[in-house]
Amino acid sequence: MAGRVVGAAALLALAAPARAQPLDPQADEAVALYRLARAEALRRATDVNEVFELVVGGGVLAELVGRRDWDTLFTLGDEAFDVELPRRVGLGQGAAPPPGQPHRPAPVHLGERGGLDASSCRACHFSGGPDGAGTATQVALLRGDGLALASATRRDAPHVMGLGWISLLARELEADLDRTRRLVIADAAALGTPQTLPLRAQGLDFGRLTATPDGGLDTSEVSGISPDLRVRPFGHKGRHPDLVALADEALQIHFGLQSSARVARYAGEAATYLGAGPAFDEDADGVQAELTGAQAVLLAAYLAVLPTPVIRPPTDPRLALASARGRAVFGEVGCAACHVPVLRVRQTDLRLATAAGEPVEITLPLAEAARFPRPRQLDFGAEPDDGVQVGHPVFAFTDLRRHDLGPELAEPAPEVLPDGAGAVPGSVWLTRSLWGLADTAPYLHDGRARTVAEAIEWHGGEAAAARDAFRALPADDARSLLLFLASLTREPVVLVE
Ligand code: HEC
Ligand code: HEC
Repeated sequence: MAGRVVGAAALLALAAPARAQPLDPQADEAVALYRLARAEALRRATDVNEVFELVVGGGVLAELVGRRDWDTLFTLGDEAFDVELPRRVGLGQGAAPPPGQPHRPAPVHLGERGGLDASSCRACHFSGGPDGAGTATQVALLRGDGLALASATRRDAPHVMGLGWISLLARELEADLDRTRRLVIADAAALGTPQTLPLRAQGLDFGRLTATPDGGLDTSEVSGISPDLRVRPFGHKGRHPDLVALADEALQIHFGLQSSARVARYAGEAATYLGAGPAFDEDADGVQAELTGAQAVLLAAYLAVLPTPVIRPPTDPRLALASARGRAVFGEVGCAACHVPVLRVRQTDLRLATAAGEPVEITLPLAEAARFPRPRQLDFGAEPDDGVQVGHPVFAFTDLRRHDLGPELAEPAPEVLPDGAGAVPGSVWLTRSLWGLADTAPYLHDGRARTVAEAIEWHGGEAAAARDAFRALPADDARSLLLFLASLTREPVVLVE
């Protein structure tokens, strides 16, 4: 969808306030484009699925990257994200229905295998604009017993904009932490006694790391990330380290589409992650070799180059002033301690690769391949800084760390990470990025909060002090804070539906 919108950008860029002139010719053209797109989508759904078949291996992707053909790469990815997948590509779990019968949807997922709860990525990521969030009625029902609503974990779909930059940030933070890890190991070996160093990266505090002279590590004081020191910035729990792993899982748990990369990776735990069907058709839907790893890499590439959300303060001078005050209040009451306004990306090449199986790997230079708006220095006022001033500023309002937000937001069970890195306790959540916030209601991991103010009220645990400070604000300041948060939005596009 976004591709077509961008394609028609000239006529759809209605950033300017309401004009006196009617927009009839443009609107007509937009409607015509929309009809064309719909017709294409329907044809694809009933006929062959070009995108999924075109990228059977990684060759097409590597070639597009080699040619620096970012537009085609984007268009292919956009189609893969939007396309209504036909059954014959292997949609679904369980025994294949008789020819001509639809697969029965199973909105409540069965454990880690998922369900069949949609036939396109777009189905859950469209609210507030293309590649947006889920609505209140689309909460996904993850890791249940396949039947009962109450057995599942309810999760709200976040928007998927700007995630390439989040990936880069995660890799940079990780590289900084890795340097400390090597340093403390070397120190302990050189001095012959256990050594401890603070784990810090871009001013963020990840606890402390202790090494013993024999090279052993004590990670019990590591905080905000798993003991393996990987930064996992995706999913409400901080589940996935990168977009390829996430897309590969999404294809399985929402559509029952299994990549050969996935089948290779979980061969030893097939019953849990893939299904108990015969080899090569573990989900027993009658279709073998459903995907290579290339589709997940394509989807990841698409997600990586999507534009970033923006900050659009109100234009009315009085409101603009209040919004600026709100931004200061955001820092004063302690929101910015977790929702860190800006982090910086120094290295802008993003590597996207499958974890196992047929290897597919590409590297995207985001400074060139990403869509506008890209992160850039605008006049957002002074930020508290840690001396790191180089690189692209990414105004995502997160620290990419996990925090304990207390019993009221807790789930009964911990979430087991799919890559063997342990589990995340029930009350612990990744600091949700706040960019794009204004367009992504409902809020919190399960969408329980209808408004931003409600979301703040639910904060407890490590965020209780900030919540209390918010409650204690003079009415004017509280309004200013909410006004500022309402400016965290995205560039406007007009969609014709
Ligand atoms: C049935 C609804 C649904 C469908 C279909 C769906 N998603 Fe999601 N998506 C979700 C939910 C819910 C989450 C949050 C999951 C969690 O962390 O518990 C999510 C999370 C994500 C995230 C992480 C965003 C972030 O900031 O953490 C990305 C990226 C994403 N989905 C991409 C995709 C792709 C690609 C597809 C298609 C292959 C897809 N989604 C299909 C519901 C859906
Ligand atoms: C201790 C860290 C911490 C502090 C301090 C904190 N937050 Fe959060 N915030 C989080 C985490 C973690 C989540 C995700 C919770 C969830 O998904 O259930 C979150 C979620 C949110 C959300 C929901 C976003 C969405 O898209 O669903 C909003 C809004 C928000 N915080 C605003 C604030 C404001 C405003 C403040 C200051 C009054 C604040 N937060 C202070 C950690 C924090």
